[in-house]
Amino acid sequence: MGSTRAVTKAVIPAAGLGTRFLPATKSQPKEMLPIVDKPAIQYVIEEAVRAGLTDILVVTGRGKRAIEDHFDRNFELEYYLEQQAKHDLLKEVQQTSEMADIHYIRQRDPLGLGHAVSVAREHVGDEPFAVLLGDDIMVDDSQLLRSMIDTHARYGRSALALKRVPQAEISAYGCVEPEPVHDGLVQVRSIVEKPAPEVAPSDLAVIGRYVFTPEIFDALDRITPGAGGELQLTDAIGLLLDTQTVYGCVFEDGRYDIGQKVDFLRANIELALDRDDLGGDVAEVLRRIVRERGLLDG
Ligand code: UTP
Repeated sequence: MGSTRAVTKAVIPAAGLGTRFLPATKSQPKEMLPIVDKPAIQYVIEEAVRAGLTDILVVTGRGKRAIEDHFDRNFELEYYLEQQAKHDLLKEVQQTSEMADIHYIRQRDPLGLGHAVSVAREHVGDEPFAVLLGDDIMVDDSQLLRSMIDTHARYGRSALALKRVPQAEISAYGCVEPEPVHDGLVQVRSIVEKPAPEVAPSDLAVIGRYVFTPEIFDALDRITPGAGGELQLTDAIGLLLDTQTVYGCVFEDGRYDIGQKVDFLRANIELALDRDDLGGDVAEVLRRIVRERGLLDG
């Protein structure tokens, strides 16, 4: 058993360049791209808050001011909405700035996800903490994150989110060699970043949710540039495995990688379909598109 201090802090890396989403991300962060009518990172912060994490540190970089502004007050807008008696919108805008205790830190250069997490060290201190990637959204009512926090509470060790992906796609992810513990929980034997499908140890991909013991920071101090020349979080997890057990919580549904164009569009369509105020109209639009373009044929 390790430390069982409660997890209260979340670190949200959002300093990447988002090159897969250019030109949209040239001057705006991909984490601010709207999914229906809410920026992706707001879904992520809401997920953290629902799981009981009230101290949020967002790791930002150059050109990411829009994130800070979004979670700040906007008095001019609030005044306008008040004058126009748009009370629902006013409430929504105010809630965004009151959601949690949100802090910001800059990663001066986008040297990789491992480096982004390491800049959170001073803020996090000697406590367990969660990491939620700002471009990965989960629509599972925070169930996965809660189960990871529970795993930490039970074993006092780190927990990674894992999802089965088609073998051909595993080279886009960190991949683990698992040892089953019980349904939905594995122990991580080893981990490798972006393996070729033929040498991947499994089809279990590491997805953007983590709960770490503070020892991950010592491991982050020791890594050197890995896959893609970046300081990889995966490599630090590999080093952590030398001294501590790491668990993996396997989940099935409810995740969108909005840094990927097709997944971004899927997120927008599915989340709009789920909305009471939009679902019917969006379903009608989709039916018409499918009909007019003959998309069911062949
Ligand atoms: P990604 O690899 O998906 O983000 O990192 P990226 O580098 O912005 O994307 P592409 O590949 O160029 O399109 C996952 C998360 O980690 C953050 C990103 O902002 C994203 O939320 N990240 C990545 C950092 O904060 N710093 C980095 O140096 C790299």
